[in-house]
Amino acid sequence: MSFQFFMPTSIKVGAGISRSIGGFLHSLGHKKVFLVTDKGVRNAGLLPQIENSLHESSISFEIFDEVVPNPTSENIMFGVQRLKDYSPDSVIAVGGGSSIDTAKGIAIMANNAGNILDYEGVGKILNPGLPLTAIPTTAGTGSEVTASTIVTNTQTHFKAAVISPFLYPTYAFLDAELTINLPSHVTAATGMDALTHAIESYTSKTTNPASEAFALHAIEMIGMNIEKSYFVGTDLSSRENMLVASMLAGAAFAQSRLGNVHAISHTLGGVFNIAHGIANATLLPFVMKFNLPACPEKMANIAKALGENTSQLSVHEAAERAIDAVIRLNNQLNIPSNIKDLGVNLDVLPKLVEDSMRSGNVLINPRLTGPDDIKEIIVNAYNGTL
Ligand SMILES: [Fe+2]
Repeated sequence: MSFQFFMPTSIKVGAGISRSIGGFLHSLGHKKVFLVTDKGVRNAGLLPQIENSLHESSISFEIFDEVVPNPTSENIMFGVQRLKDYSPDSVIAVGGGSSIDTAKGIAIMANNAGNILDYEGVGKILNPGLPLTAIPTTAGTGSEVTASTIVTNTQTHFKAAVISPFLYPTYAFLDAELTINLPSHVTAATGMDALTHAIESYTSKTTNPASEAFALHAIEMIGMNIEKSYFVGTDLSSRENMLVASMLAGAAFAQSRLGNVHAISHTLGGVFNIAHGIANATLLPFVMKFNLPACPEKMANIAKALGENTSQLSVHEAAERAIDAVIRLNNQLNIPSNIKDLGVNLDVLPKLVEDSMRSGNVLINPRLTGPDDIKEIIVNAYNGTL
């Protein structure tokens, strides 16, 4: 056995903890903050408590609220220019995956030359960025504890992954109060993104005992809390558990990376601008079905973690139950059972296959995967044929 587990982000968890951000940054000597967010977060009224906290600690700040879904390199580089004009000593991200990924890109490009897309791939960034505090307002992305940011190239519609140890946020504040009023469809999409992270991480070829422990516990926590957070919404305990599970899944996949679901969903996001979590959730059963022969024991463990009674079943039967459990969750959460309903069309199937194969996630998917396999998964997911 040989592995490394590196997770440098300092994490604070607690309802209302985002109200202490000013004092925390002040204690570290920060005086001027660039706050990255989107208009949805601003309109939802999530910023005033953070702004007040910064005011109270005499920290000046500028708000950049122009984050777009499926962040583009243009948007990130625009943010970098705004940051340089303001010249802060630290960055805060408040929002979902798009805001945190954008802030990661902006914070890193403050200290690196050229365009963010110049750094596509693993370990290409030369210098650390500005200190970044990530405050997620959704429970799904895990981006607050990962070493990657996903950037859409608007010329090619390809979602490029930039991966570097310098991209880990310095701090993560997990405040479930910020997630309490999330619309239910966002709760569903982001929660299923977290489940996909956990399942793909747990079954990845580059998993290790530490990341497996994080991932399997995340699967269990999500199984126990996702429906309550969706159907009740205002239940702080299930919201908090989802936020922590999402972080655990993020910490897991930062080590192990992901698999075919993310390879294909990034492609669908880049080409059709489909929300990431929904694309993952819809694809997940089809990829699990494809992967089952490669990792039946792990799939059986996933079934058990999701609450299935597998005691009388063979390993293969138990493994099938993991797929059943995910399909049932998707149905409960009103997630489409095929990607046609998400707006995918197959006119560009060769590009979808080619872009998905370009993802590094294919190489570490548990079952050996070639272009014909990706094509078959996409066509099956389009037709809803398991
Ligand atoms: Fe994801």
